[in-house]
Amino acid sequence: MKIALTGIKPTGNLHIGNYFGAIKPALELSKKYAARYFIADYHALNSVKNPEELRRYILEVSAGWLAAGLNPETLLFYRQSSVPETFELATILAAFTPKGLMNRAHAYKAIVQTNIEKAEDPDAGVNMGLFTYPILMAADILLFDSDIVPVGRDQTQHVEMAADIAAAVNFNYKQDLLKIPQALVQESVAIVPGLDGRKMSKSYGNTIPLFVPEKQLRKLIMRITTNSQGVEEPKDPDSSQIFLLYKLFSSSEEQESLAASYRAGGMGWGEAKEELFRVVNRELSPLRERFDSLIADPEKIEEILSSGAEKARVIAKNTIKRLQEAIGLNFKKSSRG
Ligand code: TRP
Repeated sequence: MKIALTGIKPTGNLHIGNYFGAIKPALELSKKYAARYFIADYHALNSVKNPEELRRYILEVSAGWLAAGLNPETLLFYRQSSVPETFELATILAAFTPKGLMNRAHAYKAIVQTNIEKAEDPDAGVNMGLFTYPILMAADILLFDSDIVPVGRDQTQHVEMAADIAAAVNFNYKQDLLKIPQALVQESVAIVPGLDGRKMSKSYGNTIPLFVPEKQLRKLIMRITTNSQGVEEPKDPDSSQIFLLYKLFSSSEEQESLAASYRAGGMGWGEAKEELFRVVNRELSPLRERFDSLIADPEKIEEILSSGAEKARVIAKNTIKRLQEAIGLNFKKSSRG
């Protein structure tokens, strides 16, 4: 089986955009690949400097993926920070990474550009963790012989950089030491509209969190912006965010029936929202229950992640050994195994 690997940065609360855009497709993929999914906690450190907050994000994101159906028995699930070989590999890779390559990273360039526009020092607010972010990410990927890396479009450049760095290592030692990975952007993934109609995103503040209590979920859904059409007016389902969201949570019969009510007139936005709430809550209730019981037992989550890390390290140690031998860090040629 080919290997699929991805990192999950614990920097915020999961929302239904993450659920349809990342979690569901990644879990679907894990049926066809040997999947290795990890919590990229050291990556999060670049932006989350408050220990309580970081701890909470790590727990909640882990519990969230587990609640959504990640099976740690069949899928390798671990924390990046529990696999110290990652950081050994990052050091090795740094020696093969031209600084110019890092200068070209979109995320870094965007910050520099903003600084220049504000007439600030170009590197204001840039820490070295952010600058070398692609190297750490390359280590995550290359350590586990990943074939494909499912990511959002914004991360494809980082995966390409990992491939470039791997090729530079292989070229220098004239061996296929590191597998060349490929990004997988799942095209069919739904764009989830947010409460205000723009794409649902933490940075727009328009999200519906995955695990809010029922009452709050209802309140949020009632807040979805609508036009000023009155109750009696016939409405167009396809230009309605309520309907776009509804499609993600309902059967085709339900969709046809709601679409018919839109077109017939006589249904106000409040009523459409009630129907949306019903199906969203139907899907999210069991997830919320699993999430709540996991969160109430952080030791259990810790245990799952540690046992994943143990298995991950067996693979990781092998990669490091292979590299150290090729690089010339081992005096003694070990009997490969
Ligand atoms: N950079 C990714 C993000 O922001 C998270 C990540 C870290 C990652 N390491 C990775 C993704 C390795 C894929 C593979 O979403």
